[in-house]
Amino acid sequence: MPKILLAGGAGYIGSHTAVELLNTGYEVIVADNYSNSSSEAIRRVELLTSKSVKLYQADVRDKKALSEIFSGNKIDAVIHFAGLKAVGESVEKPIMYYRNNIDTTLSLLETMQEYGVKNIIFSSSATVYGEANPVPYLETMKRGACTNPYGWTKSMMEQIFEDAAKADKKLSVILLRYFNPIGAHESGMIGEAPQGIPNNLMPYVTQVAVGKRECLTIFGNDYPTPDGTCTRDYIHVVDLAKGHVKAIEYILDNHCMEIFNLGTGTPYSVTEIVETFERVNNVKVNHVYGARRAGDLAECYANADKALKVLGWKTEKTLEDMCRDSWNWQKNNPDGYI
Ligand code: NAD
Ligand code: WQD
Repeated sequence: MPKILLAGGAGYIGSHTAVELLNTGYEVIVADNYSNSSSEAIRRVELLTSKSVKLYQADVRDKKALSEIFSGNKIDAVIHFAGLKAVGESVEKPIMYYRNNIDTTLSLLETMQEYGVKNIIFSSSATVYGEANPVPYLETMKRGACTNPYGWTKSMMEQIFEDAAKADKKLSVILLRYFNPIGAHESGMIGEAPQGIPNNLMPYVTQVAVGKRECLTIFGNDYPTPDGTCTRDYIHVVDLAKGHVKAIEYILDNHCMEIFNLGTGTPYSVTEIVETFERVNNVKVNHVYGARRAGDLAECYANADKALKVLGWKTEKTLEDMCRDSWNWQKNNPDGYI
């Protein structure tokens, strides 16, 4: 079976993707520097699948470390998850974000060129649509002006991939634009383990529900949306992981430079998330309505038709599943991977 290198594969989305790839029969190699993860996630992936993963502790910017990985394994395709992703931190430390995110991409592309590896799938984000495009977002829309350095790193890396594919006729690239991944594997063995105060909504909700934090602040209830709170396209991380398997199957069979939205196409508001979480899990989530958060858009959701048409992929899990599985993970692992 083909060998897939997951750069940043010990993280939240990478670990779930590893499970789906292994269950489909692919061989998985992971390179991660654990800057936002731990090897425990991969140990659990192995337990869950009864398969083994070849694990390298490596900084993906480090070409010497990459050379060792590429020379020791005949890699068929790379999925590039490695990156820093906290929006607020990227505003405080833009240089660190540009250095880490862009260098990982350049080092991977250079090493792939050196070893003749021709297929790469990149973790991009809905954030590249920027502020001006109307929802639902379509892959044919132009990338917009991003509201923070994190978003700009994704936008710039998309440009780098497009230019590299134009210049190298044998290079195949798939840019996957994720919407808002939440949830966890239904076993409760792997999930999202943010360090410190969570930036994202669902980990904050679960930490309030479990008693680690006192109260969720819902950022703004005066948006032009049905209930005044922002709407997002929340996607179950296992559905998202399965989208990567479809993308791998496609890229191994087709020479391509393609962009796919990975979302459900259905927006839910922050209030709907909190209410659904409370209902399906029968727990209370203390919350108050506060001021808007700088940089938030009122609405963000995908047109997900292209992924269905070309990859034969669509989401299967419901918002109830997302809330149930997020809670199951949090309850079983109140302090993450320790
Ligand atoms: P994550 O932080 O859990 O995973 C990223 C992994 O990359 C971590 O394990 C981290 O240790 C590793 N990493 C970072 N820099 C590295 C480096 N220089 N060398 C080696 N490893 C490095 O985040 P995630 O939620 O799993 O996201 C995966 C990718 O998807 C990221 O690129 C992120 O920007 C992108 N993305 C995430 C979301 C989201 O909401 N989670 C949405 C859109 C796009
Ligand atoms: C969701 C909604 C908040 C926390 C970010 C990145 C995006 C992508 C996904 C990587 C918003 C509200 C949140 C809280 C709240 N990441 N909220 N109280 O901002 O849609 O997207 O993660 O690429 O690029 O920007 O996700 O989970 O932070 O927020 O009311 O304590 O929840 O205002 O409406 P966001 P999020």
